[in-house]
Amino acid sequence: MAESAETSLFPPPEEFSQQARVKSLAEYEQLYAEAERDPEGFWGRLARQQLHWFEPFQEVLRWNEPYAEWFVGGKTNVSYNCVDQHLATWRRNKAAIIWEGEPGDTRTLTYQQLHDQVCRFANGLKSLGVDSGDVVSIYMPMVPELAIAMLACARIGAVHSVIFGGFSSEAIADRNQDASAKVVITADAGWRRGQQLPLKASVDDALEKSPTVKHCVVLRRCGNEVTMREGRDHWWHDLVEQASEDCPARPQDSEDPLFILYTSGSTGKPKGIQHTTAGYNLFATQTFQWVFDHRDEDVYWCTADCGWITGHSYIVYGPLTAGATTLMYEGAPNWPDEGRFWDIVDKHKVNIFYTAPTAIRAFIKWGDEHVEKRDLSSLRMLGSVGEPINPAAWLWYHDKIGKGGCPIVDTWWQTETGGIMMSPLPGATATKPGSCTRPLPGVMPRIVDEEHNQVAAGEQGMLVITQPWPGMLRGIWGDPERYQKQYWSTVPNCYLAGDNAMCDEDGYYWIFGRLDDVLNVSGHRLSTTEIESALVSHPTVAEAAAVGRPDDLKGEAVAVFVTLSSGDPGEELAGVLRKHVRAQIGAHATPDEIRFSAALPKTRSGKIMRRLLRDIAAGKEEIAQDTSTLEDYSVLAKLRGDEE
Ligand code: WT7
Repeated sequence: MAESAETSLFPPPEEFSQQARVKSLAEYEQLYAEAERDPEGFWGRLARQQLHWFEPFQEVLRWNEPYAEWFVGGKTNVSYNCVDQHLATWRRNKAAIIWEGEPGDTRTLTYQQLHDQVCRFANGLKSLGVDSGDVVSIYMPMVPELAIAMLACARIGAVHSVIFGGFSSEAIADRNQDASAKVVITADAGWRRGQQLPLKASVDDALEKSPTVKHCVVLRRCGNEVTMREGRDHWWHDLVEQASEDCPARPQDSEDPLFILYTSGSTGKPKGIQHTTAGYNLFATQTFQWVFDHRDEDVYWCTADCGWITGHSYIVYGPLTAGATTLMYEGAPNWPDEGRFWDIVDKHKVNIFYTAPTAIRAFIKWGDEHVEKRDLSSLRMLGSVGEPINPAAWLWYHDKIGKGGCPIVDTWWQTETGGIMMSPLPGATATKPGSCTRPLPGVMPRIVDEEHNQVAAGEQGMLVITQPWPGMLRGIWGDPERYQKQYWSTVPNCYLAGDNAMCDEDGYYWIFGRLDDVLNVSGHRLSTTEIESALVSHPTVAEAAAVGRPDDLKGEAVAVFVTLSSGDPGEELAGVLRKHVRAQIGAHATPDEIRFSAALPKTRSGKIMRRLLRDIAAGKEEIAQDTSTLEDYSVLAKLRGDEE
């Protein structure tokens, strides 16, 4: 089935194309050609259309590789573009955010109401001394106040760093420290599968190791008991109580930083990916409109968490700037039962639905009856992001959720790219299950070999981007050297995406996964080195190697090989080590499998042979790798269990 699916073409439904923004392949190709011929004219025109300018820009792009400045000299404000620009239009009373809490409570905020709340909270932040350029960490559940906090920072020029609610207090402290955060915004707790996730308690621990943080703002969400430290901790509701609804958006320079978002790289230290104001705002908005073919009457739902880039670009900044109604859901897909997502689609009459392959595979496993019990007829298109979608999951999504009539957009992009780079346009591009199809206008990908030459159609190679684009990262916070080295030094004059990919004869791209030691677990990036450093920080562990193992649900699961300096190998210690990794990084990094070993396979120069471990973790009978450089052959036999 997978084979035939990969070769079949799904043309966009005719009625969809007729009403779409981009109605045909010819129209897409025309846009693409325009952007290719005159990128600065193209992006300049769109920037003037989409964003409000307090002061116009003088130059579209100043490119001094690897540093880009977009819309040079212009002044704008992302919070203004997301909120204020709609207040003078009929959208003033349109729903900006429809929110569904896990227990079933809902709230709707119109653009006017969103404006008032953003302003009051922005004034609250100012009263704590937050100023333009200050870094604010946000560690919150998926409630409207999370979006309000992000927009309030943007409004006054503060730089937010959203930390996913699943991260541990160690991880929060590391991020506070790296970014010199001045304030942390959190909640007493958040709901997850009927349980309260004690966010404030994690922040309390983190603040013991965050000397730069002077204030902590706490939203009351669950009503659980929390400790409030006098002078440092402030309730959200107290802060906004006397605050005024008047807080003019501060005109920001196009290149002022908007946010930092930490992601895992191939070292043990997460990198703070830095995005700026105008280029990011334009790219998120424009790609949102192209890819989701957004219409004003739509209810749009992206199931991501604002703790990841997908939530930044496609729950908050892109949709709100476009004047969309964006739905936010607080909780788990299987609470109170496995049909929760479909209940939400039915209840709020969702038209556009954007989720991840790992979720789709979970739905398949949970059974079609959960889907069949609900009315999904409001859906008109579907999206996927986070990892390659396997054709079987694609077909199920198409048939069971889309009832065969909704176009699917498989969107390839990264934290670093700021927005979608490759994707079908739902009214224009015929899709092939498993392919993210073609680049968006203004995006210039290429597949190259080790010698940096473009490979032939159908050949695998490294995916690079050959031209700057407005949403590109501007750097790694506090580490220009790593930025240069990581992204701009492997292939001359090209951005290295870090993915292995192929372009077929039709110009369709296929992404196969990472080239580096980065795992993709349920659509989230995890660094093997980070997991290894967490393990060796435990007193019993001498050495550790983490590798990805194929997993039906998560895409990749975390398998680790551990040698001990003390303690007894066994289930008990494995449990202790799992807990230890959770505490160091977060629940999503918990190893799925721990294997104890007397030694790890190494080359003569002492490098751990990961590819070999990957084969062993995957349970491959035949080791396909070249083992001639293996230092001690008996290690291999022991690891595979041939001996002992
Ligand atoms: C990596 C980026 C972009 C938001 C979510 C993840 C993989 C992402 C796809 C896709 C194949 C994909 C890539 C990429 N990836 N989307 N549609 N098809 N692979 O963001 O954590 O920055 O991870 O996710 O490997 O490099 P991220």
